[in-house]
Amino acid sequence: MKIDELKKKAALTAIKYIKENSIVGIGTGSTVSYFIKALSTIKKKILGVISSSISSSEKIKKYGLKILDLNKVFSPIIYVDGADEINEKMEMIKGGGAALTKEKIIAASASQFICIIDETKQVKTLGNFPLPIEIIPMSYSFIKNKIIKLGGIPKLRKNLITDNGNIIIDVYGLKILNPSILEEKINSFPGVVTVGLFSKIKADIVIIGTQSGVEVLFNKKNKNLKLMT
Ligand code: 5RP
Repeated sequence: MKIDELKKKAALTAIKYIKENSIVGIGTGSTVSYFIKALSTIKKKILGVISSSISSSEKIKKYGLKILDLNKVFSPIIYVDGADEINEKMEMIKGGGAALTKEKIIAASASQFICIIDETKQVKTLGNFPLPIEIIPMSYSFIKNKIIKLGGIPKLRKNLITDNGNIIIDVYGLKILNPSILEEKINSFPGVVTVGLFSKIKADIVIIGTQSGVEVLFNKKNKNLKLMT
């Protein structure tokens, strides 16, 4: 089965976790595109969606879903997004689609984060996928040097300006043994808008499209369920 089909399976399963009258936060990427299409089939049952990027907004509008302003929403939000890598603790690298800042804002505002992935995204140690960092353009040289001191190889993502008018550095060569400490450290560099490490804000539910079915993992205190559907 092709990877895209595994992504689709995960995205379709996520619909089961969307409760009536909920507000759905929507991430960015190819897996999320399948989710947006599936969500449009139950659009009358939800209050609306919060979008994490211009590209997702375009797809959301195409399917006739109602986009809400995060600043005007007071009900709990269920956030659904993909990931570039995820470890056993449900810590993630995100930002392959350059939407990491708004993704982190919505994830932080949400009461639940449902991560939808294909099985190739599961890793033991984060860092094989280059770690994206959105930065203010004038801080480029300064942050590049900081990253080299941390042992990473920074590369400017070419021909890209984020939805927020910033640039992205992708950091290669990191073996991220302690995501939480690295997230804090990189966040402390002036000029960093967002680092694509999601270790403080993690997934609550991970839905994995696999060759043999769909696996659902729950990250709840005192409750470590593993279901196959
Ligand atoms: C976008 C992201 C995406 O969730 C991540 O890149 C995964 O994308 P895809 O579903 O296309 O594999 O973080 O900023």
